[in-house]
Amino acid sequence: MEYNLTNTLFEHLGVGIFKYQFGIKEGFVYSNRALSKILGFSDKREIEGLNLEKFIINKVDREEFIRRLKRDGKVELYETTCQTKRNKVVWVLISAQLVYEKKVSSYIEGIIQDVTKYKGANEKLENEQDSLQTILDSIPDAIYFKDRENRITRVNKFYAKGFGGKVEKILGKTDFDFFPEEQAREMFSDDTQVLKTGNPIVGKIERTLLPDGTWNQVITTKVPMYNNKGKIVGTMGITRDMTAHANAERDRYTMVLNALMVLSKALEMRDPYTQSHARDVGIIAQRIGKELKMSNEQLMHLKIASELHDLGKIGIPLDILIKPGKLSDLEYSLIKEHTNNCYKLIKNIDFPFPLADIIYQHHERIDGSGYPQGLIGKDILLEAKILAVSDVLESMTTNRPYRVALGIKNAIKELKSGSGTKYDPDIVNIVLKIVKKSDNMIFWKDK
Ligand SMILES: [Fe+2]
Ligand SMILES: [Fe+2]
Repeated sequence: MEYNLTNTLFEHLGVGIFKYQFGIKEGFVYSNRALSKILGFSDKREIEGLNLEKFIINKVDREEFIRRLKRDGKVELYETTCQTKRNKVVWVLISAQLVYEKKVSSYIEGIIQDVTKYKGANEKLENEQDSLQTILDSIPDAIYFKDRENRITRVNKFYAKGFGGKVEKILGKTDFDFFPEEQAREMFSDDTQVLKTGNPIVGKIERTLLPDGTWNQVITTKVPMYNNKGKIVGTMGITRDMTAHANAERDRYTMVLNALMVLSKALEMRDPYTQSHARDVGIIAQRIGKELKMSNEQLMHLKIASELHDLGKIGIPLDILIKPGKLSDLEYSLIKEHTNNCYKLIKNIDFPFPLADIIYQHHERIDGSGYPQGLIGKDILLEAKILAVSDVLESMTTNRPYRVALGIKNAIKELKSGSGTKYDPDIVNIVLKIVKKSDNMIFWKDK
């Protein structure tokens, strides 16, 4: 009765149960229904008498299993493959013990679990992880993953390279372990913002101090990482090194500017009246820019635009340029061509600010009475409006071939009367303030 009950229970278990006889008559002497199913038999009696070799066909695995059994008397969760009746391979876990009956016959009693499903899933996951890492490693940008505490959980090869290639020294750390505090704090605040809002930060350009002490310029994108319940579990970032590009761009820019400055010097050599005009207009313009709280970069742009603003005069016949006395209408219209000339010369050169337009507009007046386009105030660039006022101030206080210097008082008179019509009133006010502060002196000549 007891045997039958056990038998019935075994038959309904979801794991395979077996008894295997060792010795002269080797083979299965008992198997339950679940084992038949695992091994692909429709009737469990088909298994009886069959040898273990028929199932664990990998010789090394089989011999190791028997060796451990004989050594320890039992084996727990031994992982191997079995071949089914239809030659399919299934992954199994075998737990078994060696038993002796009447001290003569030895048997193996044990259970077999089919783990193909989990094994497959694990292998698939491992393969996917491997493929993901391979893809990440093939990208020549630094890629990292961080958890909610901003600790680095995964990096690609390119990222690791920046830190001596030792991935194990990076994982679990934060930016505070690698970067200067101020920089790490900014990175931390960006990561926190992405975690909190779920909004990515795209294409942020930043300068980074590397552990080897060199600076590089990078462009970074940070995105939130979600789990399958839609919760943000961390961030992922991609950083592209733009240092070489930025350096090449800066070199190109410097080269072009140098070439234009040479042309500007050539113009000065040709026309002594314009000597130092461009430089002084630059000093005035930058002074106005400072009062307007412009950034150092914007002030530099003003300086460059001023240095080059009359470059187009290089295309005007010299006898008109230095003609003493009044110019005819035709001659004056030729002089006016200098804005067009310069625009044509530089409009196709790529600058990081609208240099060609600023220069093109430096003779525009806010009421539309200027040239060459007759633009009105709202359409004129701020830099061009600053240049216009600086140009008038400098020209009127300097000798010209056709007249002597008119003096700063007359220049101020002209600016005041044209304020709000020809010239931007805010800029005129700034100039008045500066001139007053310097006791009506030509302040740009102090430099
Ligand atoms: Fe001009
Ligand atoms: Fe000028």
